[in-house]
Amino acid sequence: MTDTEATPGETAGATPTTFAGVEDARQRLREVGYLTDDRLATTAFLQSALGKPLLLEGPAGVGKTQLAQSVAAATGRRLLRLQCYEGQDETKALYEWDYGKQLLYTQMLRDKIGQVVEDAPDIASAVDRIAAQDSVFFSERFLVARPLLEAITSEDPVVLLIDEVDRADEALEAVFLELLAEFQVSVPEVGTFVAEQTPLVVLTSNNTRDLSAALKRRCLHLFLDYPDAERELEIIRSKDTGLADALAAQLVGVVRGLRGLELRKAPSISETIDWARTLAVLGVTELSAPVLAETLNVVTKYERDLGLATRELPRLVDPNRTVPEDRGQGHGHGHGHSHGHGHDDADGPDGRDVRAGKDQPGRHDEAYYGSPSAGAAEPKRVAPGQGQRSFRGGGAKRRPV
Ligand SMILES: Nc1ncnc2c1ncn2[C@@H]1O[C@H](COP(=O)(O)OP(=O)(O)OP(=O)(O)O)[C@@H](O)[C@H]1O
Ligand SMILES: [Mg+2]
Repeated sequence: MTDTEATPGETAGATPTTFAGVEDARQRLREVGYLTDDRLATTAFLQSALGKPLLLEGPAGVGKTQLAQSVAAATGRRLLRLQCYEGQDETKALYEWDYGKQLLYTQMLRDKIGQVVEDAPDIASAVDRIAAQDSVFFSERFLVARPLLEAITSEDPVVLLIDEVDRADEALEAVFLELLAEFQVSVPEVGTFVAEQTPLVVLTSNNTRDLSAALKRRCLHLFLDYPDAERELEIIRSKDTGLADALAAQLVGVVRGLRGLELRKAPSISETIDWARTLAVLGVTELSAPVLAETLNVVTKYERDLGLATRELPRLVDPNRTVPEDRGQGHGHGHGHSHGHGHDDADGPDGRDVRAGKDQPGRHDEAYYGSPSAGAAEPKRVAPGQGQRSFRGGGAKRRPV
């Protein structure tokens, strides 16, 4: 089937449940409030055209979950969501047996069951007779579908969001493989359910642990980074925060500067939105370091981050204040340690080499929420790839708090 044809069950005139092309994806996502760049729009289109699961990785708050929700809204599909967590088992993800209902039925059928075993000569043969009725009680009637099975058996088209898959245990991750590869779920007592309508599956990860190669292989992969300044400003505008355009543009610059500091939790898009709303509510008409410092707790989540960000704010608000000595060893932001600063002369245009040397892939990385390894000295040099660095941030980059 081509992506422009109607999927089964789709009626003429209804919202097409797939995207017709990259531009169509971009436009329809925009209509539901999600602003994409070329890569994102292309991936959204490809996912619906190829029918492949999409694995979104990236730092917190860059719009991973929102993308799945927006794809559902834009394609008129029902959203089914599985929120993953440690210790979760397949009864919460796939299906479980409705014991209460089974019990109720056996009680109501007590007389009938009595008749079945009535003339059994001994216990063993009575048990055999009951066992012969197993299939009645382990049938679809007593099956409770959880999101994965529901996505497969759904008669209407769905988006299945498997959110924060990295938080699920590896055993549960393995359970996802059958669904991701074959779009089917096997229930040993009943048989295999195969999807009649291929669900659009979106998985998100914050990289708290490495995902298996088997899972990655089955998915289209997209690293969702912090947006560039222009798109972030567009997102802020689209949220009707009430903050004047010029201030919003300035604020985006400051947030990008903050992302360039070695914060334990770099501010994400959602924090920029919150900050803009906060400043609008306070009736701020001019961005100054003191005004921003008073509201910094909206974007910083750790005491140490707050201190560092407060010290850097004057320079971020007015980049002309950058002192030349910042380029040398005696940098002025008062945290004694050595780290790569991303100066052109030191290690390339945005410090990638030094950072690459420090980035360490790791499992259960306590800094998974992001601590960019970029130096603090050059707020204006925030590169589009900074989220990737933050996201990959290994424990080795963590500072003593
Ligand atoms: N491209 C975008 N267009 C519009 N809004 C966006 C976009 N990206 C992010 N947002 C906004 O940012 C907020 C945070 O996004 P979301 O919750 O999807 O992040 P996330 O990547 O899933 O974060 P986490 O990893 O913490 O779950 C959303 O509420 C949404 O309003
Ligand atoms: Mg999310």
